[in-house]
Amino acid sequence: MKVIEIEGARQLSGAIRISGAKNATVALIPAAILTDEEATICNVPEITDTDALCDILKQLSVNVNRSTESLVINPQNMKNVEIKEEYSKKLRASYYFMGALLGKFKKVVMHFPGGCSIGARPIDLHLKGFEALGAKVTNEKNKYTVEAKELRGANIYLDIASVGATINIMLAAVKAKGTTIIDNAAKEPEIVNVATFLNLMGAKITGAGTSTIKIEGVDRLGKCFHEVIPDRIEAGTYIIIGALCGHNLKIDNVIPEHIDSLLSKLEELGLHLEIGADYVIVLDSPKELKPTNIKTAVYPGFATDLQQPFTVLLTRANGKSKVEETIWENRFMHVPYLNKLGANITVKNQTAIVQGPTELKGCEVVATDLRAGAAMVAAGLLAEGKTTITNAEHILRGYEQIVEKLKSVGAKIVIKEI
Ligand code: UD1
Repeated sequence: MKVIEIEGARQLSGAIRISGAKNATVALIPAAILTDEEATICNVPEITDTDALCDILKQLSVNVNRSTESLVINPQNMKNVEIKEEYSKKLRASYYFMGALLGKFKKVVMHFPGGCSIGARPIDLHLKGFEALGAKVTNEKNKYTVEAKELRGANIYLDIASVGATINIMLAAVKAKGTTIIDNAAKEPEIVNVATFLNLMGAKITGAGTSTIKIEGVDRLGKCFHEVIPDRIEAGTYIIIGALCGHNLKIDNVIPEHIDSLLSKLEELGLHLEIGADYVIVLDSPKELKPTNIKTAVYPGFATDLQQPFTVLLTRANGKSKVEETIWENRFMHVPYLNKLGANITVKNQTAIVQGPTELKGCEVVATDLRAGAAMVAAGLLAEGKTTITNAEHILRGYEQIVEKLKSVGAKIVIKEI
């Protein structure tokens, strides 16, 4: 098991550069197999989710050439074999191989994907979308077989604007016969990044980033070179850390409009920020912060993935703040550990009430999932004394070189294997 130890309450200054977006990368890697030639992806984050997807590519006999932050993926000799559970369970995004393999071979056999335990996480909308395109879905225990004689464009309305279902349907529809329209599509920047990638290969997708996406099927996809967008959740996490204990902390390589909802909330709390074209500087962290309320929502609303780190910041606000989680039903697993550190938070149904300000004192806590782990790092940096975070491998799934990045701005943090 990996353990992160932090000696907290130190001021952080300097610059942190944001890596490529995890949630774009985990879709781009499976999407790359749709090319009939070769795809190069750069600005790929060195996180364990990237490793897990490359392992699946290798299992499918796809040629992968990986160097620092870039991947050259050549699927010309690939074999459409069953994706084993030991691979798919490592991350939820392995489900993008469903859409990609179905789109390319008209058949896919894989096990239900794994991922963070933050809610029920069904994939019914993905499967309904595949069925609308003409596929037949069968499942035995955890194993899904999705196959079609022919994939035909269709009009698909998503009951929920799901990121995963939107991308997965796009992947399956890109080579289908005719036109597919996805209505009530999710609008996250990662979806736009994936659509751009497919279009660079020769796909015909319009409307990505709006709630109606149109995909005209094409017969073949060619060679392309593509760049992953900066990770808005990683950026948001470090900006929150800056708000907790930063002084002139610059977060570089950011697209500020991707985190508008966070930046407005930070200003509401009373933080002083400088927002540039591709950076945000947390100028200082005032002693007294005002309380505020947040409600997570689909993009461009307040990102659920930033809810957990943001809750740490609310422990510093003077008064009562409310955090409403509307996307995942089990996303308050960080709260008992924040309370163990000294916070005063109560949870009822999908709402947490944070009574601040409270002083946090280091102790042993658990990273129960990826973003809860990020919240523990943020809390450990704020707390007096030593915080030990167990199960830290969750954090490495989504944050490239988190220990090195934080050390470089003055944090006292180490990672150990025990
Ligand atoms: C993606 C992100 C994740 C983020 C989430 C919401 C990736 C790899 N992960 O997850 O970090 O927290 O978006 O912004 O990009 N739902 C169904 N049926 C389905 C699909 C989803 O009911 O078939 C529900 C889910 O249970 C959830 C909601 O829809 O309540 C949103 O899920 P979705 O947008 O699909 O999240 P993911 O794509 O899994």
